[in-house]
Amino acid sequence: MTALVLYYSNTGNTQKVARALAEQLGAELAEITCQTYLAWYGPVAMAWDIFTRHRPRVTVVAPRDAHYDLVVVGGPVWAARAAPPVLSAMQKLPAADATAVFLTCRGTSPSSPPEPALAEMQVAAGSKGQASRIFREEEVRGPALSEKIAEFAGRLRAGAAV
Ligand SMILES: Cc1cc2nc3c(=O)[nH]c(=O)nc-3n(C[C@H](O)[C@H](O)[C@H](O)COP(=O)(O)O)c2cc1C
Repeated sequence: MTALVLYYSNTGNTQKVARALAEQLGAELAEITCQTYLAWYGPVAMAWDIFTRHRPRVTVVAPRDAHYDLVVVGGPVWAARAAPPVLSAMQKLPAADATAVFLTCRGTSPSSPPEPALAEMQVAAGSKGQASRIFREEEVRGPALSEKIAEFAGRLRAGAAV
């Protein structure tokens, strides 16, 4: 199976899951970066994009293959929505037979649940969307993370063309 795990991470949680998932799947790993957010005015730009739903310009290290059996896209929840850089990257994903998504979030506030963000990413994944997973911070930092990622990888393998 050819697979690509593509992720955006601001503070490392999504990166941690993406790296382990790529390892489990034997997938390529590619990071989405947003130069604007790295500038001195980055926090303001980020807040503006969250508020207006503007999709910032992003850079993705060019994947090796033109077509994958599976592309998995991961990112954080921001203000109960998908982080805008992830949605930017999802506008130009490499060709794939299946697209899966995952999110990381704090997941502790009933007023900002992660489900709307997941739905947003599933819509962006389109009709090729398949398995999805929300990883809460307590899981990302907890001792059972690798088993949870292995379980998700198993579901992805089962769903993707092998
Ligand atoms: C601007 C901002 C808004 C956030 N909003 C939410 C939220 O609405 N719900 C939630 O559960 N977590 C929220 N979080 C927490 C992140 O989703 C969580 O820490 C995530 O794992 C960060 O991923 P990263 O480390 O890959 O950047 C927010 C974090 C930031 C920085």
